[in-house]
Amino acid sequence: MADHIAVFDTTLRDGEQSPGISLNMQEKLEIARQLESLGVDVIEAGFPISSKGDFEGVRLISQQIRKPVIAALARAVRQDIDRAWEAVQEAARPRIHTFIATSDIHMKYKLRMEPEAVLKRAAEMVSYARSLCPQVEFSPEDGSRTRPEFLYQVLEEVIRAGADVLNIPDTVGYSTPEEFGALIRGIQKNVRGIDNVVLSVHCHNDLGLAVANTLAALENGARQVECTINGLGERAGNAALEELVMALRTRKDFYHFQTNIVTEQIYRTSSLVSSLTGVHVQPNKAIVGTNAFAHESGIHQHGIMTNRETYEIMTPESIGLKKSQMVLGKHSGRHAFEERLQELGFHHLSADDVNDAFQKFKDLADKKKVVTDSDIEALVSEELVQIPEALQLKYYHVSSGNSLIATASVRISREGRTVEEAACGDGPIDALFHAVERAAGLDVNLKDYRIRAITSGKDALGEGTVKVEKDGRNYVGRGVSTDIIEASVKAYINAINKMLHDISQNPNNSDRQKEAIEAV
Ligand code: KIV
Ligand code: ZN
Repeated sequence: MADHIAVFDTTLRDGEQSPGISLNMQEKLEIARQLESLGVDVIEAGFPISSKGDFEGVRLISQQIRKPVIAALARAVRQDIDRAWEAVQEAARPRIHTFIATSDIHMKYKLRMEPEAVLKRAAEMVSYARSLCPQVEFSPEDGSRTRPEFLYQVLEEVIRAGADVLNIPDTVGYSTPEEFGALIRGIQKNVRGIDNVVLSVHCHNDLGLAVANTLAALENGARQVECTINGLGERAGNAALEELVMALRTRKDFYHFQTNIVTEQIYRTSSLVSSLTGVHVQPNKAIVGTNAFAHESGIHQHGIMTNRETYEIMTPESIGLKKSQMVLGKHSGRHAFEERLQELGFHHLSADDVNDAFQKFKDLADKKKVVTDSDIEALVSEELVQIPEALQLKYYHVSSGNSLIATASVRISREGRTVEEAACGDGPIDALFHAVERAAGLDVNLKDYRIRAITSGKDALGEGTVKVEKDGRNYVGRGVSTDIIEASVKAYINAINKMLHDISQNPNNSDRQKEAIEAV
């Protein structure tokens, strides 16, 4: 039988470390739920010592998500390990993932520690973590640039101290596939006790080699892969889960491995992560980009029509991309709508969520003749993560043209009080955002704004994404409508509501900012 490869997803930890991303607890939980449906073996839910938000997120996920192992990251420091354990102890299968850098450059300039002290600390902290938690993973940070003899020594010591999983990171994405494969082979050959632990890899994508390096490691004995949805992660990101898994599936004639991933959930997971993080997927991204299954040239289209396999090495259906069906219209009833939600995989919506989604569906069906699966998915994803709406849009009006100054007026209710304001701007959106800002009485730092069509046709749904910043934290808002101005203002208000909610939950600014993690 093909060897099993454990998939360790670190979207909520390394992915969340991507520049500009910060997810609130409900968003993290929603992603964790989807990762569970996707079938990942391990969810690295966060780095609990780094902030109160990270700690609470890991704790909530540990309480609610029962199938996968839930891992929490900790430096090889007692107080990190205590905090990680506090956050994951209620998980059905908790894991502490502790790390310390082992390359000469990191030990000398970052840790300012001698190799002997690092060796001792690694073993002591693995042993300490093991005294608390039934599963411990250890990572020698910057493993690929560590002197192999020292790396073997550290790995042997942590195995003796009780580590269950040894993870070799290519922290700065420096390795090449041949080199990284040889490193894993060397570890298999030279580290006593290696057969009693799981060997894992964690590759960064600075040279675009993360997936290739991970696959090379599998060919040489690694049996756990660390990866993220859409390849998110520090700098250029981590190995993309969808690319790894589809490479293993599509080329099983070559790799002979199997995973627990339900590949038909890949597309939904990628879309959810993209919409909650506000990081759009590039169109030509392998597997999940909008062009990944699009055939433009006539020769290709002809080939596909005659035999799909001429130009398609995997089917769109295998990642869960279905052709949008004309499912429902304005005469469809609630029963048909609920049935469609079930078929689309929305199983855990509350009765209130279904009511709200049904109302939105009815409104949309009044504007569009047919409502497709993609329309429904877009509407429902607005319901998935809800935060209290401190600001509510009651009305807006915009006027703009190429020979007049854009002006906008809005009526907003803020905690029961109705406020009206007007403003001018460089265009209709700018004017509208200024008017909202005035009505809300807030100074909003707009960092990013995007609009795109999420379904096709003249009456397509548009999705607005807005990122705002306060005290070093980013808040991503999303709005969906057939009218792009409405989608934009909904997204802006959604982002502000997330910001206000976060401030009300964490009034102390310093708690809301991720603490700078100093070297140990
Ligand atoms: O890239 C890295 O080295 C890490 C470790 C904490 C595993 O993310
Ligand atoms: Zn990393």
